[in-house]
Amino acid sequence: MQKTVLITGANRGIGLEFVKQYHSAGYQVIATTRNPLAQDGLKVFSQANPDVKVISVDISDDKQLAGLASMLKDQPIDILISNAGYYGPKGEASQFGQVNHQEWIKTFNINTIAPLKLIEAIHSNLIAGKEKKVAFLSSKMGSMADNSSGGSYIYRSSKAALNAVIKSLSVDLEKDKINVVSLHPGWVQTEMGGVNALIDTQTSVKGMTKIITKLNSKNSGEFIAYDGKKIPW
Ligand SMILES: NC(=O)c1ccc[n+]([C@@H]2O[C@H](COP(=O)([O-])OP(=O)(O)OC[C@H]3O[C@@H](n4cnc5c(N)ncnc54)[C@H](OP(=O)(O)O)[C@@H]3O)[C@@H](O)[C@H]2O)c1
Repeated sequence: MQKTVLITGANRGIGLEFVKQYHSAGYQVIATTRNPLAQDGLKVFSQANPDVKVISVDISDDKQLAGLASMLKDQPIDILISNAGYYGPKGEASQFGQVNHQEWIKTFNINTIAPLKLIEAIHSNLIAGKEKKVAFLSSKMGSMADNSSGGSYIYRSSKAALNAVIKSLSVDLEKDKINVVSLHPGWVQTEMGGVNALIDTQTSVKGMTKIITKLNSKNSGEFIAYDGKKIPW
């Protein structure tokens, strides 16, 4: 039977590339976006490939997550890619002395709390799936061990806290045989990564899908980069 992957933040960047690669691997793809009417890369791809199901969700809104769950009904989800993310303000509003309180809360809502609320909302769909895998787009910026340059309080703390969420999920979801992984996609050429980033979305996503394929109960809860290297917490 055809397997199903659900990808959040699928309208651009890394999320859109996950849509393309899982579609070409033969998966039924459910792609979420905040604005399904926008003329963007997802619109072009889903018009050319009408089997791609597009659902409108702002992941930081619990009511919209409940709406997603009721739309999915008892549809099994084999793989969930929790990709949607927000950097927050670049520059002064994220640096010592000027950190913006409201932006910090917004970033935490999107990067840390929403991924957990998403799993809570579609837990039964994941249990019904055969692969039972969840991949979270985290970041090496959330690693304590890797932080030698300081700053970026908002983004760093949101991804470090996401890693704590993922670790707890790896313990709590063991009984359901759901395996989870925290992924660092590399520094990737997207709106977030910018034009000076080191790798393109194809390279990043190709590497991450390999890691997801190998995800099992023994490596559940690990923090792994797109090139397969483990990242210290
Ligand atoms: N690019 C990098 O170098 C890099 C490095 C490390 C980690 N990451 C992580 O990789 C993931 C994807 O990054 P990217 O580079 O592809 O970023 P991007 O180009 O900025 O895309 C971010 C995606 O997240 C969506 N999003 C943001 N807030 C949302 C919300 N409240 N509800 C639903 N969707 C929301 C955006 O939707 P809209 O278009 O509606 O805003 C967009 O689809 C993120 O979690 C990011 O933190 C990226």
